[in-house]
Amino acid sequence: MQVEHSGLRRKIARNKLKVKCQPFQDEGRSSVYLPLCRQVLMGGERITFNLFLKGLEKGEAGGPEIKFLTYVREGETLAPDWLAALSKAGIDRLYFHRRDVDKVIAYLNNHLLNKANESEECREKYYLLREHLNLSLLQSFESPHLGRHLHQVKASLEHLLPLLVPEVKHLSLISDLLYRDYTIYQHSVNVATLSMALGLFLKKSRRDCLILGMAGLFHDLGLTELDEELVNKREPLKAEEWELLKQHPTLGYRLLKGNLEMPLGALRLVLEHHENADGSGYPQGLLLDRQHPLSRILCLAEAYDGLTTHRPYRQAYTPYAALKILQGKRGSSGPAYDLQTLKDLIRFLAFS
Ligand SMILES: [Fe+2]
Ligand SMILES: [Fe+2]
Repeated sequence: MQVEHSGLRRKIARNKLKVKCQPFQDEGRSSVYLPLCRQVLMGGERITFNLFLKGLEKGEAGGPEIKFLTYVREGETLAPDWLAALSKAGIDRLYFHRRDVDKVIAYLNNHLLNKANESEECREKYYLLREHLNLSLLQSFESPHLGRHLHQVKASLEHLLPLLVPEVKHLSLISDLLYRDYTIYQHSVNVATLSMALGLFLKKSRRDCLILGMAGLFHDLGLTELDEELVNKREPLKAEEWELLKQHPTLGYRLLKGNLEMPLGALRLVLEHHENADGSGYPQGLLLDRQHPLSRILCLAEAYDGLTTHRPYRQAYTPYAALKILQGKRGSSGPAYDLQTLKDLIRFLAFS
């Protein structure tokens, strides 16, 4: 039987309802409920959308079934106690219905405006920008009018960049706040964040860092042109499926080409994000010196994030294990990744 929302809150507050904090399972691009991290919610404010917790309840067949249980109803004022109870129960992730994505973005915008002049609140601002990027990316990937959303995404990225300053205290913040679960949007936000932070660490210009950020956000856009079943397939791909998947950098490049918000350098990086240092990558098989000078940063950040996030079919690798894999990865005629940039990444992660 469904627990009524105030009853659910009482149970959480009294620690009478056990909620398992499992990795988020992405149900693909069409999932109806989308995650939102608790840290962006502000107590004492009216919520303009329903907020849910994901729980297990007895289904009609008698077995356990995943249910989305209303925790806060649209129009209610979010009591600080309700947030504190979630924190105490170790619940960091709530959910909202996909149809409310505009309302959630407006909610995040409102908080970002309030925090515009607060430089000390890096952690909160980072969470807000991260979720804002995640959702505006979702909107732009799904919209037939990609260009309209690119401006909003770029503006968020420009606000995020100053928070990634390469000082030790900030670096540890960055690795703490990266998403641990994999969805195409979360992966893209992580890749943008890591690439920009590594770019800043290597004293690249602000312009270069924004190129890395935009490329990180849109590098996998081409996947949306492919069949969702193929993209999410857990079994090994057949040769012809693999050939289809290998088209995604070119498909993304074509979708973005001609958009004035997309820097030319970022376009090239989107096309080159699966190129290897020894020329064994795809789609063009370019050797390192024929690639854009920033591609080596994006390629490594992309591969590192792919390994260090949870997937439905495997646990996330630890940073140490992931770096070992990257070090050992060889193409047909040499190391797959640029060894100098790999050393830079290791140095960067040692600080963080
Ligand atoms: Fe990727
Ligand atoms: Fe990719």
